[in-house]
Amino acid sequence: MAEISAELIARITAAGQQHVLRFFDELSYDDQENLKSQLEAVNWESLPALAAEYVVKRPETAIPDDLAPAGYFRISDAGMAKRYAEADARGIELLKQGKICCLTVAGGQGTRLGFDAPKGTYPIGPVSNRTLFEYFASSILRLSEKYNCSIPWYIMTSPINRAATENFFKAHNFFGLAEKDLFFFTQGTMPAFGLDGKLLMSSKSSLALSPDGHGGTLLALRRSGALDKMKQDGTEIVSYFQVDNPLVPVVSPRFAGLLALENAEVGAIVLSKTGPFEKLGNFCMSCGRTMIIEYSDLPAELAEKRNADGSLQYSAGSPAIHVFSRNYIERLTAGNSLQLPWHRADKKIASINDAGELCTPADNNGVKLESFIFDALPLAEKVILFEGDRNELFAPTKNLTGVDSVESCRRMISDRNARRLAACGVDIPRNADGSCNAEIEIDPRLVCDDADAAALVAATGLKAILPGQKVAL
Ligand code: UD1
Repeated sequence: MAEISAELIARITAAGQQHVLRFFDELSYDDQENLKSQLEAVNWESLPALAAEYVVKRPETAIPDDLAPAGYFRISDAGMAKRYAEADARGIELLKQGKICCLTVAGGQGTRLGFDAPKGTYPIGPVSNRTLFEYFASSILRLSEKYNCSIPWYIMTSPINRAATENFFKAHNFFGLAEKDLFFFTQGTMPAFGLDGKLLMSSKSSLALSPDGHGGTLLALRRSGALDKMKQDGTEIVSYFQVDNPLVPVVSPRFAGLLALENAEVGAIVLSKTGPFEKLGNFCMSCGRTMIIEYSDLPAELAEKRNADGSLQYSAGSPAIHVFSRNYIERLTAGNSLQLPWHRADKKIASINDAGELCTPADNNGVKLESFIFDALPLAEKVILFEGDRNELFAPTKNLTGVDSVESCRRMISDRNARRLAACGVDIPRNADGSCNAEIEIDPRLVCDDADAAALVAATGLKAILPGQKVAL
């Protein structure tokens, strides 16, 4: 029988959660050890307040009275041309000096895609079926080759998909990346609550645990040793992106350069929203601080508020592409603690009943709490926001069909490639709406920008693509 200390039992009891022990005595030794290690990891002292504040009571998102839309550097501002050229040069210099790394949050599963594996292993390439991870790895390789530098890549997984993610990289020989430049680390978990504030259990020997959101990324960087490695490597800037967007520039020299030139702690790319309710976080200002209010939290009357010319007031949406200065991450996590605000998500959570039987609910029966990395923005002394071109850098893969889907993502990959080829004089077949009537994939190992595309076209002698053709270059 595994020993569970009286002190731990007392802490669990004080939190009003002693039901988690009700099957303990009947478990095998290994199962007891498993449950014990989960219970030891829970911050029992914080649970009663969390349950009261976020679960039993439905928290209202506090919208500050002085909330205002955030301003940002415009992409086509002629007055900024000189500054952007300087930023390009500075970003390229930083890359060449090996001072920029990549960071991907890949803790999510492909649930919405009906894909039971780490989302990064989804075959998104419209012609090649290249996976999301391969898109990023190949882009990193191409940039490292172009600027003769190494670009370390930090990948955050959840405990659920850590092994599957690492095995996938191993099975693909790390896509040609040097193993020393890859660093996997694991995010934390949070136990799920029933609507009455009691913790749910997924079996007699396990709490119903789920990844606790990407808000723990910065602290996990410190605790995993990643931050120390960054320091040793001389990394100054961390280029952050999500696992679901194959068009992302894994490092944008201009964006990184601007962060350095402006001496800012955080930079974030802004997209002009397609409508008031597009599912993007909203860039806002309050008390002189930049913040993101998630799409689900921005009240409809603010989302729909318009300027005199009819444009949306809150038009600045977030594609979740950020740059952080390493010093900022060091500063925020210096005390080895950083708890960003929790956000509630109501879910259907399979859990055991008092008889120990697993029940799959038809309706939401529980609450998961997550924290979000962008809640760290208001803690930065200086944030810069920089407009990006949606067609060039944002094709999120959230669903199978419809908006932000595999379908739309593949179309956007072809359209971006068509634009690059057309700019080099290649004849592109078009549909009536101007979109490309072909599926075109360009290997990101060969092309990371327009100059690379021009070199590829010159080398292949490509003149035209035929209607409906599938082309992999
Ligand atoms: C997210 C952003 C939203 C942004 C949009 C752009 C959040 C909460 N919202 O929305 O502001 O405008 O993307 O596409 O992120 N992840 C983890 N661990 C977790 C949870 C998520 O690593 O515990 C990772 C996922 O693997 C994914 C990313 O975080 O790479 C975003 O998660 P997702 O749930 O897809 O967020 P969205 O609602 O799509």
